[in-house]
Amino acid sequence: MPLVNSPAGYGALTKLLHWLMALLILLQYTSAKIMLRTPAEATTLGLSQDTYYNWHKSLGLVAFLVMLARLANRRMGELPPWAPTLTPLEHRIIHRTEQLLYEALLIMPLAASSMPWRETTASGCSVSGTCPIRLARRR
Ligand code: HEM
Repeated sequence: MPLVNSPAGYGALTKLLHWLMALLILLQYTSAKIMLRTPAEATTLGLSQDTYYNWHKSLGLVAFLVMLARLANRRMGELPPWAPTLTPLEHRIIHRTEQLLYEALLIMPLAASSMPWRETTASGCSVSGTCPIRLARRR
């Protein structure tokens, strides 16, 4: 299998980045849901809310780097042709959907990292122990 995309099919790099991103989204969704359901003083599966937050933030930044790699990879080689059964309207819908996914997965970690809680843990306290911001928690 060639490393980059070619008219014969998607390259190994594209497939690797695709499944890595799928895994990261799954981990991000799961870690965020557990983080938001773990009270500040409690643990879930032996990990505190702050630990989930730290993992969520770190993996979110890894996801951003993977998206940059995907952007670069998309410019390498040549994309395989559309499946012959697809109509021009379906080409447009698929292309726009891909664009939206790229945009969302670039904006999400950037936006999350630039929120006021960027220097804080999920409980609203900074890693150094001070609590400049108390986040309102969902019930
Ligand atoms: C691709 C990257 C990311 C994905 C897919 C993602 C996904 C999510 C999801 C699904 C939630 C739960 C929302 C809910 O149930 O209400 C969430 C919450 C959260 N995420 Fe991320 N996240 C990403 C990156 C980041 C990064 C880089 C940070 C860095 C600080 C971050 C900080 C947070 C915080 C603080 C919350 C809780 C917000 C609240 O209090 O409601 N996320 N994220």
